[in-house]
Amino acid sequence: MRDDEGRPDEGRPDDDAPRERGFATVQVHAGQERPDPASGARAVPIHPTTSYVFEDADHAEALFAGTATGNRYARMDNPTVATFEARLAALEGAAPPATVAFASGQAATTTAMTTLASPGRTWVVSDRVFGGTASVVRDVLTPFGVGVRWVAPEPDAVAAALDDDVVGVWVETIANPSGDVPDLAALADLAHGAGAPLVVDNTWGAGGYLCRPLEHGADLVVHSATKWIGGHGVAMGGALLDGGRFDFSADPARYPALHRADARGRSSVARAPDAPVAHAARRLGLAAMGMTLSPHAAFALLQGLETLDLRVGRASASALALAEAWRALDGVASIAYPGVPEHPSHEVARRVLRGGFGTVLTVRFESEALARATLDRLTLISHLANVGDAKTVAIHPWTTTHAGLAPDARRAAGVTPEDVRISIGIEAVADLDADLRAALRAARRAVGA
Ligand SMILES: Cc1ncc(COP(=O)(O)O)c(C=O)c1O
Repeated sequence: MRDDEGRPDEGRPDDDAPRERGFATVQVHAGQERPDPASGARAVPIHPTTSYVFEDADHAEALFAGTATGNRYARMDNPTVATFEARLAALEGAAPPATVAFASGQAATTTAMTTLASPGRTWVVSDRVFGGTASVVRDVLTPFGVGVRWVAPEPDAVAAALDDDVVGVWVETIANPSGDVPDLAALADLAHGAGAPLVVDNTWGAGGYLCRPLEHGADLVVHSATKWIGGHGVAMGGALLDGGRFDFSADPARYPALHRADARGRSSVARAPDAPVAHAARRLGLAAMGMTLSPHAAFALLQGLETLDLRVGRASASALALAEAWRALDGVASIAYPGVPEHPSHEVARRVLRGGFGTVLTVRFESEALARATLDRLTLISHLANVGDAKTVAIHPWTTTHAGLAPDARRAAGVTPEDVRISIGIEAVADLDADLRAALRAARRAVGA
C-alpha cells in the first residue's frame, strides 16, 4: 500500500501500533476527531458568541491567569476557530497551540513582523514578496524605526545581508508572479548561523499540500487562508504557525516582545517556551490589536480545507499541462511556471515542492497591448485580484497588484508590462485552454499582431 502522498505505507492492517494519518485524512478530520459532544453534529459547529459563562469566580480568575484552559472572550478564544487552527497545524506539521488564526493574511503578516521587530533592528525580506507584505514594511515597520534589507531570495544575497541586528529572514514559498522558489533549507541554515529565524509565507504552498516549510528548516510559517485554504473565494483569513524549534531565549535583547513581562510578570518565552512567537502573537495580534478570525469565516475555511488536496492536485496538474501548451502559442513570448524545466527555479522546486508545482502561471505576451487585449477577451476565466480560487482567475500585475512598487522594484520582482498572471482552478482543462486561445486569437486581430 502507498499513502496519498505516494510514500510506502509501512503499517500493516493487523498492526495496532499508532500510525501517522495521510494528508487526505487529516484535511477532513484533524481538530474534530469526534462529533460534537453536545449535539452529535458531524460537521464542525459554528460558535457565534462573543463571550462564555464562567463556572464561578475562581474559574474566571484561573482562565484569565492562564492557570486553566478554556474560553474567555471571543477576541482571543473561539471553538470553531480553534478547530481551524488545529486542522491547519496538523496539515503543516505544527502543534495546535502553536498555530494562531487571524482575520486575514495581512493580519498574520503584520503580527509576525511586528512581534519579532523592534526599533533599530532589521528584517531581511525577499525582494519579490507580495505587495501587501511590502506595505507592512513601508507603512508599519519603517515609521516605527525598524530597518529592512531587500534581497533576492538566494543564498548569496541572504548571506550578505545577515548580521547580529537581523530579527528574521522573510521569503515566500513560490514568488508571485515570477514563480521563483527559494532553497528553504539553505536559507534556514544561513539565518540560523546569524541567530535569526527563517519565516516563510507559505500561502502559495497551499496549506501544506505543496510545501511544509517546517520540514525544510523554517521556524515560522505565515498563511493567507483567503487563497487555496478556502478555495471558494467566500472568506478572508490568515494564520501564523510557530515551529517551536528556534531558541528565542538565546538573545533576549533581539526579541523584546517575546521577553516583555505581561501584567502578571511573565513573558511569552517563560509562559510558552515551546511556541513563544505564537503566544506573543495571540497577545499582540488578537488580544491587543483585535485581528481576530470570525467563527463564520473559520467554518468556511474548514469547508475549503476538506477538499484541499483534490483541488490543488487537479489545478496543479492543469497548470503544468497549460504551461506546456501555451508556451508554444503565437503571441506568447514565455511562461513563468516552476514546473517547466527551463524555469530558473525548476531544480529547487523539485526539492521544495511536492504534489505539484502550484496552480499559478504567468504568461508573458509579446507586447503589453496583446497582454491587455487578451485579458479583456477572456470569457470563462475571471479578471480579478485573487489566486487560489476553484475558479480560474487572471490579472495584469504591472498595473494592479504590483502597481504600488516603483518600476525598478516591479522588474526586480520579476514583473513586466507584458505579463498576465493566471491562477488555474478546477474547471475542465480543455475549456481553459479554449478560452485563452480564443481570447488570444481575437486579441491578435484587434492589435494587429
Ligand atoms: C503571498 C501572500 N501573502 C499574504 C497575502 C495577504 O492575504 P490576505 O489577502 O488574506 O490579507 C496574499 C494575498 O494575496 C498573498 O498572496
